[in-house]
Amino acid sequence: MLIITGGTGRLGSLIVDKLLERVPADRVGVSVRDVAGAAALAERGVRVRAGDFTDPASLDHAFEGAEQVLVVSPSIRGDGAVAATRAAIDAAARAGASRVLYTSHQASSADSLFAAQHQHAAAEAYLAERAGRFTALRHGFYASTFEIYVPTALETGEFRLPEDGPVSWTAHGDLAEADAIAMTRPGAFDGITPALAAPEALDLVDVARIVGEITGRTLKRIVVDDEEWKATAVAGGLPAPAAEFALGMFRAARRGEFAVTDPALETVLGRPATSARSVLEAMLR
Ligand SMILES: NC(=O)c1ccc[n+]([C@@H]2O[C@H](COP(=O)([O-])OP(=O)(O)OC[C@H]3O[C@@H](n4cnc5c(N)ncnc54)[C@H](OP(=O)(O)O)[C@@H]3O)[C@@H](O)[C@H]2O)c1
Repeated sequence: MLIITGGTGRLGSLIVDKLLERVPADRVGVSVRDVAGAAALAERGVRVRAGDFTDPASLDHAFEGAEQVLVVSPSIRGDGAVAATRAAIDAAARAGASRVLYTSHQASSADSLFAAQHQHAAAEAYLAERAGRFTALRHGFYASTFEIYVPTALETGEFRLPEDGPVSWTAHGDLAEADAIAMTRPGAFDGITPALAAPEALDLVDVARIVGEITGRTLKRIVVDDEEWKATAVAGGLPAPAAEFALGMFRAARRGEFAVTDPALETVLGRPATSARSVLEAMLR
């Protein structure tokens, strides 16, 4: 059985959809925290079991009979994230899975300026140490991040954000399909993958231009000092740790950490990747 964690999350549910195009539903299982939220998957014949990375015992039942487990990186911040991901990797091994896959990031690194990458680097190291056959799927930066910044920019007419840098913005749907292929196509990806990222790296000046072309409205890009941006964000209600976390993304982007592109995504998909423009068009429709 092919087990996907977070099967009702944004990425996880798309991976399940793509898997169901490739294998019968009785070969697919999801591990979710809220079983009731996965009723539609159960109706499609997917095995639904409760599993929470912070309750490792729950994973023994959720991963039972696993041939492969795809661990979707959990949306947990801070030290707890590493322990939780390790618990999932250990549980996959206990279940007898012959392969563990993990949704990593193209900028995974212990010395990244973006804290989320430390979590991915720790997971990759643990996989290499403990998991036997493993695949760390190094996802490009989610283009869905536009949803955080573009609506406000359209309200104010300004991208008033810290200095950034080019990012190879990548669509969830493309990554979910690549992940499903990794689980089902013999020989697709072993170990740490190349960057699974769209081929074009765009900064916020580029994004402002494209949004302008789509909406007919001019967006000004205004670079704000890091501390000034953080103070404004906190005054607007963002908790200080979340503001610091978000600032890390801009610092890493300006260092070029997310500028990496690679043909691997388009090669495995056998088609062009979804462009950032297409993601923006769908979002702004
Ligand atoms: N590549 C990138 O640029 C990028 C950007 C942002 C985030 N990410 C990573 O990608 C992951 C998936 O993103 P998404 O868009 O699908 O976000 P999402 O919909 O918020 O998914 C987060 C997932 O984490 C799972 N989760 C949280 N706490 C958990 C726990 N204690 N035990 C087991 N699972 C837990 C959730 O499971 P439930 O469904 O059970 O709640 C959910 O499926 C994120 O969690 C994050 O690590 C990557």
